[in-house]
Amino acid sequence: MPLVLGIETSCDETGVGIVRDGGLLADEVASSVEAHARFGGVVPEVASRAHLEAMVPTVRRALATAGVRLCDLDAIAVTAGPGLAGALLVGVAAAKAYAVALDVPLYGVNHLAAHVAVDVLEHGPIPEPCVAMLVSGGHSSLLLVEDVTQTMVPLGQTVDDAAGEAFDKVARLLGLGFPGGPAVDRQARAGRPDAIAFPRGVVRGAPYDVSFSGLKTAVARWVEAHEGAVPVADVCASFQEAVVDVLTAKAVAACRERGVEHLVIGGGVAANSRLRVLAQQRCDAAGLRLRVPRPGLCTDNGAMVAALGERLAATGAPGSSLDLPADSGMDVREVLCR
Ligand code: KG4
Ligand code: ZN
Repeated sequence: MPLVLGIETSCDETGVGIVRDGGLLADEVASSVEAHARFGGVVPEVASRAHLEAMVPTVRRALATAGVRLCDLDAIAVTAGPGLAGALLVGVAAAKAYAVALDVPLYGVNHLAAHVAVDVLEHGPIPEPCVAMLVSGGHSSLLLVEDVTQTMVPLGQTVDDAAGEAFDKVARLLGLGFPGGPAVDRQARAGRPDAIAFPRGVVRGAPYDVSFSGLKTAVARWVEAHEGAVPVADVCASFQEAVVDVLTAKAVAACRERGVEHLVIGGGVAANSRLRVLAQQRCDAAGLRLRVPRPGLCTDNGAMVAALGERLAATGAPGSSLDLPADSGMDVREVLCR
């Protein structure tokens, strides 16, 4: 069984995971999120520098946790894209160095496919075909997955802000800090989801696309109009409901229309408590099976990259070439960069 080390550096998390035979041996993450907090969002250059500092220590920690040596590894997997160019470059360069030094295959993989593949670590083999909904600070995508090691078909995406970005912007508006998703989620527990009728971000003519910028503006206007007496918990609950209502409705509709029985949700926003509850209710009502990895595997991590790399290695896929680029705009149809 191949022993694979996966490296993730597409955003602000330096993640290193080690996987063997669908089992997780190590999942070490060094986050630079605190360095970005005062800017209210991830600063690419700050993230790249933090990756450089964290890379080797995080690999060492992962090896120690897994109780394996570098020379035991059978392959190295790395996020080749999409993501921040400078941040990706650090992971790709490190992965190449390890692959050359150890003389093992290098798999440059798609970040979004890794978000889907990670569920193998929690719930066993990925049910294929499935629909995957990936919602994070950088992406909001609905994908049809026939085989996660081959290709994914994009069904829909956001036409403006990503779902997590909307959470972060609304949190900032309310003075809740960065990242905003967890804070909004917490506040929302004490609020009423039907307190304020915020708009649902549907896109005419594109059944699986979503839009969050109108919602964000509606929240900003509402907060402005009620200055001095903003019921923060109600605003959070009503905003959150507007986001998760649209996301879950589209995901369930995509499954039904494509005749697919399984929905997999991933990305940082999949940690949202209301999203998890509503997705489960709607899947139950539609006779669909829902799979959501635990929150720690939903946010960016190296284990997801290792999980996809291990599947590729197990199927005997040829590795990427050593001139593998860091591809910030990597197409979702491309799971493995040659
Ligand atoms: O996947 P991730 O760690 O990084 C990328 O953006 O790729 O996702 C981070 C995003 C942030 O926007 C954060 O606010 C959001 O996920 N998030 C949440 C929750 N936890 C994290 N959004 C809503 N509810 C949460 N509980
Ligand atoms: Zn991600």
